[in-house]
Amino acid sequence: MTGFAAQQRRVLSGMRSTGRLHLGHYHGVLKNWVRLQHEYECFFFAADWHALTTHYEQPGDITTNVWDMVIDWLAAGVNPGSATLFIQSQVPEHAELHLLLSMITPLGWLERVPTYKDQQEKLRERDLATYGFLGYPLLQSADILIYQAGVVPVGEDQVSHVEMTREVARRFNHLYGREPNFEEKAEAAARKMGKKNAKLYFDLRKRYQEQGDHEALNTARALLETQQNISIADRERLFGYLDGEGKVILPEPQALLTESARMPGLDGQKMSKSYGNTIALNDPPDVVEKKLRTMPTDPARVRRTDPGEPEKCPVWQLHQVYSNDETRQWVQEGCRNAGIGCLDCKKPIIDAVLDELRPIQQRASEYESDPGAVHAIIREGCEKAREEARKTLEEVRQAMGLTYR
Ligand code: TRP
Ligand code: SF4
Repeated sequence: MTGFAAQQRRVLSGMRSTGRLHLGHYHGVLKNWVRLQHEYECFFFAADWHALTTHYEQPGDITTNVWDMVIDWLAAGVNPGSATLFIQSQVPEHAELHLLLSMITPLGWLERVPTYKDQQEKLRERDLATYGFLGYPLLQSADILIYQAGVVPVGEDQVSHVEMTREVARRFNHLYGREPNFEEKAEAAARKMGKKNAKLYFDLRKRYQEQGDHEALNTARALLETQQNISIADRERLFGYLDGEGKVILPEPQALLTESARMPGLDGQKMSKSYGNTIALNDPPDVVEKKLRTMPTDPARVRRTDPGEPEKCPVWQLHQVYSNDETRQWVQEGCRNAGIGCLDCKKPIIDAVLDELRPIQQRASEYESDPGAVHAIIREGCEKAREEARKTLEEVRQAMGLTYR
């Protein structure tokens, strides 16, 4: 493992724009983003090109979906003051990096990514035997690597994409990491840490390289990790110089598995638009209430007097997300001895969901009535993202011999 990548404090994540978001997105992704935005430097983007890979026949929906999705992010508490929010296609540097990485990516790596065959099977009604769809994970790699992100929060289905990103980065660094004057640049970088730290660094490096002292290697790495005043590029040089390898141009990211509970849908399956079992973040209160009142319960409980079994009931799964121990106890007993009716049982869920959605919908309506503000947030985010993306791309072009000035 490249320990230093894990230490990097930059988070990047993207979401395909596929329409209004629902409580599954909120519990599975957005709450996590909101938490991360306080702990890391965060970049979150709308993956509109990724949406095109599967929905190229309905491109008209994509822009609308992007704006709706961004409003839902903001409504859920993603804060543009803490996180940089942008749209993938508005940072065309992603595309150039994707192209350059495509030169070194073996076809077999893309064909072996599990989602490639899975999605083709699942979305049989679409023709996904396209070049763009095969390249989907590599585009994702470019999204991640162009920000030199250390941490990528994703769901389980995306871990293989981050894994491939690591392989692509490793291959890139191996092929192009030996920049000209590497040693001089590394030594200059060391001096930027101050005299004392530079000396310590050189001593530790020597102990590691001449005597194979791993303790010294770890100490030196720890030293680098605490340095605030050196650039990411310099830090990567110093890491590379320690091992006697070249510079790490594209650091390997780590997947951060979102451990948040699977959000059950109205039928007990995972909440997902394709199952038609969602509560949308913008469902009006009467719709939410109706959806919950009519959602299925333990099928064995036909009459009010029939005892039920929470383990067989999707409502019980919602209690696990929304209720405290006391309420859960009340459900368990009341259901099993027919002491409560199913509507009684649903009442606390209805209240909890409405309470959860109220501030979200309040914020959404503010942004909806001020599209200019939303556009400004995204414009600013795109600029900031482009600035970062350009820096990496400049290094990549140089490493690949594409400099004409
Ligand atoms: N492929 C991701 C998904 O379907 C979306 C995505 C695109 C992404 N680029 C990314 C996620 C980069 C994390 C990092 O959910
Ligand atoms: Fe489900 Fe609650 Fe009805 Fe029991 S009482 S069947 S847990 S809704």
